[in-house]
Amino acid sequence: MSRKFLVWDLPTRLFHWLLAASFLGAWWISESERWRLSHALLGVTVIVLVCFRVFWGAFGSGHARFATWTFAPARVLGYFRAILRRQPEHYVGHNPAGAWAVLALMVLTLATAVSGWIAFSLDVPEAVAEVHEVLATLTLWLVGVHVTAVVLSSVLHRESLIGGMLHGFKRADGPTGAQQRVWVGVILLAVVLAILIGWIPLPGIRAGASLLS
Ligand code: HEM
Repeated sequence: MSRKFLVWDLPTRLFHWLLAASFLGAWWISESERWRLSHALLGVTVIVLVCFRVFWGAFGSGHARFATWTFAPARVLGYFRAILRRQPEHYVGHNPAGAWAVLALMVLTLATAVSGWIAFSLDVPEAVAEVHEVLATLTLWLVGVHVTAVVLSSVLHRESLIGGMLHGFKRADGPTGAQQRVWVGVILLAVVLAILIGWIPLPGIRAGASLLS
């Protein structure tokens, strides 16, 4: 398995880094009253990104498709047992533990952003904002676990998973079915930029509000 093949198409990679930047950016400014609108815009971006990823899980290419992910509990246990035996199993897409972790990340980021949007734009009890904060903290902890697991897994398999998520290529037995799908990536990036520039009217957010307003 010395050759590298495309594993993550461009839309999947853009989704990942835009999600990471939006979530961490929103968290970074979350305490500031001055950046409240920007915080809300980044939250809406998270919602749009995760909805796109669900669509891409059905219609994307190669390992972006959820159907290729392994969730069976026996495979998760087998994956950890193999690590304990010092014979780690190599997966071209997400490994079974990683599949559960990224699914949880998507659900938690979406729940955090939706609860934040409700608290920001609707007249609801303060409890919703508290739920939003708890979800955000849980997500942040999971991001910590995620990044630690990515680094450990990279060491274990002597393969840079971060590089894979940047350029899209990983070691594989042969072509993985992934195709760059550049035009979908361009549309995704354009939609995100249009949201952040204030070109798309968003429910509950002042018309024309931009990331820097
Ligand atoms: C900034 C530090 C981060 C690094 C270095 C990082 C790295 C990675 C890598 C290498 C993968 C692919 C794992 C694999 O090959 O199986 C991945 C997947 C993923 N990460 Fe991150 N990540 C970071 C932050 C985040 C954040 C902040 C979030 C969410 C809030 C996140 C959510 C995800 C999701 C949902 C996937 C699955 C991607 C997909 O299949 O579409 N990551 N990450």
